[in-house]
Amino acid sequence: MDLRALYAPAHVTHWSLARHALVEALRSCGATGGATVLLPSFVCRDLLGAVAAAGARHAYYDVDERLQPGDLPAGARAVLAVDYFGFAAPMEPFRDYCRAQGAVLIEDNAHGLLSRDADGALLGTRGDLGILSMRKSLRLADGGALLDCRPGAAHDEPACDPDAGQGGAGIRAAVASVERRTGLPVMAAMRAGVRAARRAAGRPALPSSGDEDERRVPGDTAISCSSLDRLSRADAPHEAERRRELWREVTADLDGARGVRLIHDRLPDGSVPYGVAVHADSDDVLRAVARRHRATAMTWPALPADVAPTAPAHYRDVRLVNFL
Ligand SMILES: Cc1ncc(COP(=O)(O)O)c(C=O)c1O
Repeated sequence: MDLRALYAPAHVTHWSLARHALVEALRSCGATGGATVLLPSFVCRDLLGAVAAAGARHAYYDVDERLQPGDLPAGARAVLAVDYFGFAAPMEPFRDYCRAQGAVLIEDNAHGLLSRDADGALLGTRGDLGILSMRKSLRLADGGALLDCRPGAAHDEPACDPDAGQGGAGIRAAVASVERRTGLPVMAAMRAGVRAARRAAGRPALPSSGDEDERRVPGDTAISCSSLDRLSRADAPHEAERRRELWREVTADLDGARGVRLIHDRLPDGSVPYGVAVHADSDDVLRAVARRHRATAMTWPALPADVAPTAPAHYRDVRLVNFL
């Protein structure tokens, strides 16, 4: 898959994480020096690290149960529209806001590599700038991208890092090869083992984002050369169909399950989802379904510290069967 060809005419640059791409996006549109960046309050806390790293401050808008945006407070230099779980966010409210406020529109499509909206437009290319996190859908050690859709856009892309990511990618490649030969869900079993060990030690099943992640973006900006290479060998139509087919299968298993409400009840043409997202009180059903499809069940997101204490119920019960 060649992101430059796929996302043309956007100017595409590769980064280790989508957050580093976002820092570059914010700097390039002058959202620095204390300028306000508007984010949804339903978002993973790590994203605040990118806003802080650019020298900007964040403000929030809220979203409803269906993750549709509410009122957008005035005064932001840049606003982030999030395509949750690879489903297209409505762009009109954001475009109206940006026209009225002279703000820059950044489309966060970290979840929806290859996903399109009902008009066939690739998510991430519908604003002034967009971000992708390829590592969330493909088995890569790292990998994010910046899509700059403004005419004449130019960014310095850091040269890929030949040393980064080798260990993780190597292990994942070996496991994938065993899975292909044996048909056994080795990676899912390894993940479950690590989580069980963490629980047994009295720790949360997944490592939680720390306060530090709200203040900075970890690691180097450069994507690893091994991730770039794997990305170039990934087959885009195959990957899109893999995630669409999993969505249909997992949704069929979850539809009507007790205590589970699907957030999206249909898969629009062109949507390439990150996973199946639901409101649910417990993980039990999701874990069983995820196991059946060799996927992972998780809660999402780790909310920002200034949102979590007063977050509405529909922010706290979102769970995901993740297709990575
Ligand atoms: C909506 C959204 N945007 C951006 C990011 C950041 O992606 P990355 O981890 O590649 O920096 C995340 C990470 O979880 C996310 O959920």
